[in-house]
Amino acid sequence: MPSDPKNPVVDRDGVRDSLPKGRLDLPDLGMDENILDDHAKYTSRDYVEREWQQLWSKTWNLAGRVSDVAKKGDYFTFDLGRESFIITRGQDDQIRAFYNVCQHRGARLVNNEFGHANAFVCPFHSWSWKTDGTLRSITDEETFPEAVICDRPGLSEARCEIWGGFVFINMDEDAGPLSEFLGDIRGPLDAYHFEDMIVAKDYCAEWPFNWKVALDAFMEGYHAHARHPELVRMIDDVNFDYDFYGGGNSSMIIPMGLKSPRFSDRSALTDELRFFIEDLGLKAEDFEGRQRDVRKGVIEAKRKWGEENGIDMSTMSDSQVIDDGNYNLFPNITLNAHPEGLLIMRFRPHATDPDACYYDVIVLSHSSEKPGFKVPFYMAVPEGTDLSGNSPRPARVFLKHGEEGMGLVLDQDAEFLPTVQAGLKSKGFKGVRLCDQEIRLRYFYAEYDKYMEAGE
Ligand code: FES
Ligand SMILES: [Fe+2]
Repeated sequence: MPSDPKNPVVDRDGVRDSLPKGRLDLPDLGMDENILDDHAKYTSRDYVEREWQQLWSKTWNLAGRVSDVAKKGDYFTFDLGRESFIITRGQDDQIRAFYNVCQHRGARLVNNEFGHANAFVCPFHSWSWKTDGTLRSITDEETFPEAVICDRPGLSEARCEIWGGFVFINMDEDAGPLSEFLGDIRGPLDAYHFEDMIVAKDYCAEWPFNWKVALDAFMEGYHAHARHPELVRMIDDVNFDYDFYGGGNSSMIIPMGLKSPRFSDRSALTDELRFFIEDLGLKAEDFEGRQRDVRKGVIEAKRKWGEENGIDMSTMSDSQVIDDGNYNLFPNITLNAHPEGLLIMRFRPHATDPDACYYDVIVLSHSSEKPGFKVPFYMAVPEGTDLSGNSPRPARVFLKHGEEGMGLVLDQDAEFLPTVQAGLKSKGFKGVRLCDQEIRLRYFYAEYDKYMEAGE
């Protein structure tokens, strides 16, 4: 059975010196048995349009951080498919989301990612709006027929709600609240205190494959042994704990600090484990030939580090302290949660092209003014990043596909996945087949199908 969603902290055995039951413990999710799936959803333009109408226009979508609209007049833009939104904090201190479009002739109103403004002035003929979305001025107003402008058009607003220091938007005026959409998955996530974290890295890459090809790769660990040889020398890529929270939201807890059970030797350290241990301030020599003791030592060291740096780990289980908590927020967010910070992946669809998507990597970190404060290497924060909390957030870095810079593991995925997109179009491909290690994909697509088939 899955852990109790009301109390879903996942830690069966403390330090996991015996392997967790993970995949042996899969719940009956009431889904169809694994059948060959219609894979046109990865490749067809028709699906792009249907997803826009049925999925993206109905779901809550993670737009950005509250800290990027910390002061009145701050704003950021969020592009999703064919739309762009302005998220801003008005003079009344309320955070709102507006469609990023001028009500004169449809120009895009704001064309940068972050900023501060007392009003939004259109770059075409300089109509302007206040930060609460009400019309401020119409240039040469007397030259307009009264009937054309008598409604004093304000900016069009989208729904906007906050959780965990994140701003979510929704285009569906009839949607239920965000809290309902996220549901029970908030339970284990709230233990990490995302709302206290700062932005430490912000990368956006254009990828030449479908957003779901990308998302799928981060919902399973089945490919790790084949694609990430370095990674499996410091994680257990087989014995994950899986949990399912409703609404397509799921998690897999990835045990860290022990190598893959695919290696027959269970005692010896690998170079990657030695690096992992040293990076956390411990001595690898103290654990030589004793892999089973690494997790206990690391958990203790991390809790001590938390105390020294004012990071509250009292709400976290031992597993949350050491493991990678990989959570999927339906439809397009993967969170990799650690006590030190959070690595967020956001998969955004291309407006028209099923063979392209945008991949955002945003790393959040706890901050400390203590000299030398840093987070573990696997958070992929660029060296020298100021984590004191006193500097402006780092600028967004844009990468073309093929440019390295996301970190070893992510670059390995980016390099390979175009071949999957190509293969999905092959006349010779008979259909996707999923094993238990890929159960989160089945769970995700069961929910995806509900949206896509709604109203049919
Ligand atoms: S299109 Fe914006 S003022 Fe004309
Ligand atoms: Fe991968």
